[in-house]
Order: sequence, then structure tokens, then C-alpha cells
Amino acid sequence: MALDIVIMAAGKGTRMKSSRPKVLHTLAGRPLLQHVLTTAAKLGANKLVTITGHGADEVEQAMQGLFPQQRLVFVRQQPQLGTGHAVQQAAPQLADDGTTLILNGDVPLIDAGTVGELIAASGGEKLALLTIELEDPTGYGRIVRKGDAVLAIVEHKDASPELRQIREGYTGVMAAPTAHLKRWLAALRNDNAQGEYYLTDIVAMAVHDGVPVVATRAHNETEVLGINSPSQLADLERRYQRAQAEALMEQGVRFADPARFDVRGELVCGTDVEIDVNCVFEGRVVLGDGVKIGANCVLRNTGIAAGATLLPFTHADGEKLGVSIGAGAIVGPFSRLRPGAVLGEEVHIGNFVEVKNSTLGKGAKANHLAYLGDADVGEKVNYGAGSITANYDGANKHRTVIGANVHVGSNCVLVAPVAVGEGATIGAGSTVSKNAPAGELTVARAKQVSISGWVRPTKKKA
Ligand code: UD1
Ligand code: MG
Repeated sequence: MALDIVIMAAGKGTRMKSSRPKVLHTLAGRPLLQHVLTTAAKLGANKLVTITGHGADEVEQAMQGLFPQQRLVFVRQQPQLGTGHAVQQAAPQLADDGTTLILNGDVPLIDAGTVGELIAASGGEKLALLTIELEDPTGYGRIVRKGDAVLAIVEHKDASPELRQIREGYTGVMAAPTAHLKRWLAALRNDNAQGEYYLTDIVAMAVHDGVPVVATRAHNETEVLGINSPSQLADLERRYQRAQAEALMEQGVRFADPARFDVRGELVCGTDVEIDVNCVFEGRVVLGDGVKIGANCVLRNTGIAAGATLLPFTHADGEKLGVSIGAGAIVGPFSRLRPGAVLGEEVHIGNFVEVKNSTLGKGAKANHLAYLGDADVGEKVNYGAGSITANYDGANKHRTVIGANVHVGSNCVLVAPVAVGEGATIGAGSTVSKNAPAGELTVARAKQVSISGWVRPTKKKA
């Protein structure tokens, strides 16, 4: 059975009070619409048709290229005359002999499993509606039944006080045989409280035509919550994050407080991982067995091997190159790891140390106020406080190579390209612009002199 999917995303989102189109607001770091498209892409549809309107250029641009495996089609709806009118615009894209699934661009956490059940319930011949029993169904279209049979959906604004008592609401998700759907869409009228073409009016049409209507219940409220305001967005964000934390705790991850934790991407954890409060994980982060993450760390595209410890306020952003932290390493507090930082086993990186595009061998240490950029640092190197690699000459980047067991004193500048041989010692305050030989002490600073009999100036009397 051929499946096409329509995602409605043309609405304005007035209550967001934002210049950004609603479906581009982010949940867990990704636009709402991206969540929906990600789920839709799992369903094996022929076409994924997104209806855009408000901020269409911006919305289409943001989604373009995110789903290389999927055929994305964008259809514009100008002006926006209601959900029925929205789907009318997509109708020419839909295969007559198939099923159409309709999703909402502002309902980001809809589950592929639930939607799969809905498609199965439609079975190519029935109109299947996803519904939910709500404590407070205000604003929702109500599922009107006679006995068990669904008769119609009545929009909240059009509902009588009796109908408003109904707590079963329409979630905005349906699956319909496409040929029927097209016929019903063509017959929609806008003589209702909002003067809109309601997609939900097709339910009564199906009943009239003798096409069976079935209602499938959503598994939980969270998956069908729509976003209309910043407050609802924040609420759904917390629900999402709580669910991520619960899933990780199921695997044994220990949180100081699961309510103070954010994953905006994918977090993979080994056994005995401990995470303190206020940490943010972005992109793909992998934590090996026994890794401990201190409070207030922000990690993006970073891999951390077994037994490593991040002390509080560490920032690691691998961007495209990634950051890799070796087994047993200790990083932080207040360390900054940038793309291409590759720390070997038992490396120590301390406060206010920045590492970019550099490899550090086993047991190397840079503990205080230092910069390592475009450097290869050997095992057991001790890199002194305040030392930096001058890796950029204003036009090009150059590498610094530091052999094993080198001791770089405090406040040194290593002007790249430059190499320091194994076991060398660089005296504090040196500016090293030529290679330093292995095993020797290199000092490159003015000799200390003392001037005897020198007198400090005194203030002239007027
Ligand atoms: C809709 C349903 C209601 C359901 C509720 C669930 C209708 C008439 N009503 O109401 O039964 O309980 O969703 O959340 O369908 N959109 C367009 N073009 C338009 C209008 C809307 O693309 O012209 C898009 C919006 O961007 C949004 C979705 O359709 O993604 C739903 O529109 P919205 O205005 O939020 O409908 P509701 O009034 O919430
Ligand atoms: Mg809505």
C-alpha cells in the first residue's frame, strides 16, 4: 500500500510572539518540524509533502538537505484558510491508490510506532483518527460518537456546551484512503465559527459516504502535545528531557538531578556513568564506563573513554572534527576543548587551558592558563602555566611538535612551525622560534642583570 505523508506547517503561530516561524523554534536543539520529518522519514513514504506558508522560504531552507535519503516536497499555502485548505494544496501530490497520513508540524514528539498503528488501522479503506482523552480538552476538536461509532469532529469554537463536555479530543493526526480524501477535500465549506476550511469536517463526510471511521488512542499525552506558546514549548522540552533522563537511568546512569539535565542530540553511556547537575549534551556524545561529568559541563560531538573525569565548567565542542578524551584523563575545572582536541590516556588539562586541533600523548599535562593549538604533544610532557603555541602567522596555521618527556616552563611562546626534541626543557619565559634540541635546556629570553647603585626616581619638588 503506497503511503504519502502531509505535514501541515503553514500556520503563523501568533501566540509564539516571535519573528521566527513557529515550526523553526527548537525542542532539544532541533526545529519542531525537523522532529516531525525525522519521524515521518521512518515510515517508508513515497512522498513527504510539507505545507509551508508563514516564513515559507526560511522553513524550506532550514529543512533542505537534512534528509538526503527522503523525497521532500514543499507546497505553499497562501493565504492560510484553514487545515482543510492546507491539505487541498497538497492533494495534487498524492497518489490516488494510496493512503495519506496527515501530521502537524507543531506536534514534534509524535511517535513512529503510534502512527504506524494508525496507518494499519486505516488499512487502505478506513478513515483513522488519532485521539486522546484529556483532562482539559479546551481548544481541541471533540470526537462525537453514537455508542462506539464516531460520527464527527466538532471544533471547540463550534461546539455546544454539551459537546464541550466530551473529553476525547482529536490530536490533529489522521490516515485516510487518498481517493476518498481528495473527494472530501473538494467538498469542504467554511461556514463555521472561524470561517476556515476545517480538515476535521471530512469525518462527517466519511460517515455520510458509509466509509468506516476508526479512532486510535495515542499512547500518552506527550506525543500529541502541540506547541502554540513559549510556555508550552518549555513544558514539552522538560517532558522530553525527563524522558531522556529516565531512559538513561534505566541503563544505570546516575544523575545528581534528572531535572537539571539536557540532551540536544544523542548521548550514549557505558556503565557506572555519573552526571552532576546542569550539564548539556549536544550532537553526539559518547561516555565510556565509569566516566564522571562534573556540574555545569557543556559537551558537543565529544567522545570520552572509560574512567575519565570532567571537573565542573568544562566546555568541549568537537564541531565537525570531534573531541576525544582518553581513558582516565582528568579535565577541568574551567577547561576548553575545541575541534580536533585528542587527549590520550591519563592526560590532565586544568583551569583556563584551551586545546584545539592538537594531540596529547599519554600522561601529558597542561594544568594552568595555557593554549595548545595545532600541536602534537608527546607522552608525559609537562606544559607550563601561561604557555602558548603561536600557531597562526596572520595568514597560515603551522604545527608545533613537542617530543615525549619535554618540560615547557611557564609563560613560554612556541612560535610554529617549531619542534622541541624529546626530553628537552624550555626555560620559563622563553620565546622559542627555532627547533629546540632533544635532552637540552633551551632558554630564549634576555639574561637577568642586576644594576648595583641604581636609584629609584623621586618626585620633583615644585
Ligand atoms: C486543529 C484541529 C483540531 C485539533 C487540533 C489539535 C482543525 C480544523 N482542527 O485545531 O480538531 O484538536 O488541531 O492540535 O483541523 N495550518 C496550516 N494552514 C492553515 C491552518 C493551519 O498549515 O491554514 C497548520 C498549522 O501550522 C498547524 C496545524 O495546521 O501546524 C494545525 O493548525 P491549528 O491552527 O493549530 O489548528 P487547531 O486550531 O489547533
Ligand atoms: Mg493548534
